[in-house]
Amino acid sequence: MRVDGTPYHGVWIDQDGWSVRIIDQTRLPWAFEIVRLTTVGEVAHAIRSMQVRGAPLIGATAAYGLCLALRRDPSSAAMEREAAMLLETRPTAVNLRWAIERMLTRLSDTAPAERVRAAYDEAAAIAAEDIATNEAIGRHGVGLIEARAQAGRRVNVLTHCNAGWLATVDWGTALAPIYLAHERGIDVHVWVDETRPRNQGAGLTAWELGKHGVAHTLIADNAGGHLMQRGEVDLVIVGTDRVSRTGDVANKIGTYLKALAAKDNDVPFWVALPSSTIDWSIRDGVADIPIEERAASEVATVTGRAMDGAITTVRVTPKETAAANPAFDVTPARLVSGLITERGCCAASEAGLLALFPERR
Ligand code: MRU
Repeated sequence: MRVDGTPYHGVWIDQDGWSVRIIDQTRLPWAFEIVRLTTVGEVAHAIRSMQVRGAPLIGATAAYGLCLALRRDPSSAAMEREAAMLLETRPTAVNLRWAIERMLTRLSDTAPAERVRAAYDEAAAIAAEDIATNEAIGRHGVGLIEARAQAGRRVNVLTHCNAGWLATVDWGTALAPIYLAHERGIDVHVWVDETRPRNQGAGLTAWELGKHGVAHTLIADNAGGHLMQRGEVDLVIVGTDRVSRTGDVANKIGTYLKALAAKDNDVPFWVALPSSTIDWSIRDGVADIPIEERAASEVATVTGRAMDGAITTVRVTPKETAAANPAFDVTPARLVSGLITERGCCAASEAGLLALFPERR
């Protein structure tokens, strides 16, 4: 996707051929800053601090992190140690484990002397596949929007958090069908949940939709149910960080409440995902998907640009107020109208997923 006319990816290799470049997402929407990562420790920090975030992008960036680790020490012991360290950076998005396991599978039979080249090749393949996968999600999902655009009617899609190109290498997951609909000239408008506590909707989704010229309106997290009751939401599309083999969906905290409101109002609730987000080892998503607990300070504060131009963090609670910060919730499959994957759309169920991915039977 383009930023002021220049095409960018969520992660890429620098012109030097080895260091890793990312967009610092903690600085958006106030500043567009590119960061250069040169060590696996810097990559781990970037993931933990959410300079890079979004399940597919975390996976691709971690794969490049392993490349940086191997440049320093290509031994098997170092590779396994740094892979384990990267795996600890964020617990919910399963794409991280998927990417690291794919790298280890590729590299464990490769002689240490050959490992660095092989690692960069595999990480580049993961990144390239992510782009193609998300484009395919867009193609499979755009029909949901097209079907509601009869007689030139505007289609209102509600989304939560950021599952756009910033959460991936390119295109995004939930936003891929929206970008394609926009390209096809469909009048699509997006209700963007602000997504407290970190405001990925307000800061990232609104920013990237704006840069691409897609009509959108920011709403407070609690406004979605009201808009659904008034018939102002045609469709909800969200991304996900982990899907169980039975179709339960972990996504940014607050997604479950939107699914409940959508069910009560007969609004279709769709989830877009690459197959790298499916955890085939988990059946009961509510019980078994690990939910990241983040710092209470994210709830007790907000960050924004002050009137004097400085980027500032302010406390919004009494100093002594305790805060809890579960970062994800799980929407049970029964509340999900369907899943949009790179192989097509299916029911949020084991049968639905296995029909698209028969190799997982
Ligand atoms: O905590 P984040 O910002 O990494 O969480 C990302 C999300 O939850 C996204 O909304 C998303 O749906 C998964 S990434 C496409």
